[in-house]
This record gives sequence, C-alpha cells and structure tokens, in this order.
Amino acid sequence: AQIIVTDRKGETHALEAVEGWRVMEILRDYGVGVAGTCGGGCDCASCHVLVDEDWMDRLYPPREEEEFKLDELPMVQPNSRLSCQIIWDDSLDGLKLTLADY
Ligand code: FES
Repeated sequence: AQIIVTDRKGETHALEAVEGWRVMEILRDYGVGVAGTCGGGCDCASCHVLVDEDWMDRLYPPREEEEFKLDELPMVQPNSRLSCQIIWDDSLDGLKLTLADY
C-alpha cells in the first residue's frame, strides 16, 4: 500500500507504507523532508502535512493534543494534520499528502 506525497520542492513520491507505523515515521525514513524531531509527541510540528481534500473525511479526526499544536502554527490550513498522529493501515492505500511548512 502506498502513500503519495508531494515534497516541499513540488516533487511527488509514491512510498511503500508499513502497517502500524506512524505516517511521520514512513515519511522520515524515506528522507522526503520530514525530520520528526520530537519522535511523535505533537511537539515539533516538523511532520506537518496537508491532506488531499478527498481524504479528509477518511482519516480519524485529530485528538486534542494534535488540535492544540496545529492551532499554534501560523501556517495552519483546514486540511492540516500532524502526520505523527496518523497510524498507517492499508485501508489508507493511495493517501495523498503534501509536506507543509512548520
Ligand atoms: Fe513532532 Fe509530529 S513528529 S509533532
């Protein structure tokens, strides 16, 4: 199953995803430009992504901790998520994301 991600240079990559991993971990390990500095603690926002509109309703909604962090980001968008808070399962095959600033 694959994540389709557009990096900050506008290049698109199809990444093989691993069930049970955080999406941040997958993006980080492929070296597309996600540092994941805080290790998934909703603290660094380096895993900030914009979710393709068609996928917004298919993800479970952010928990409070994620909402708080997103609210602090000046560049937050309605489709912003912290990818460390999205656990991959193969029903997400084809998920489209764009790396955002933080
Ligand atoms: Fe730090 Fe997601 S990895 S907020």
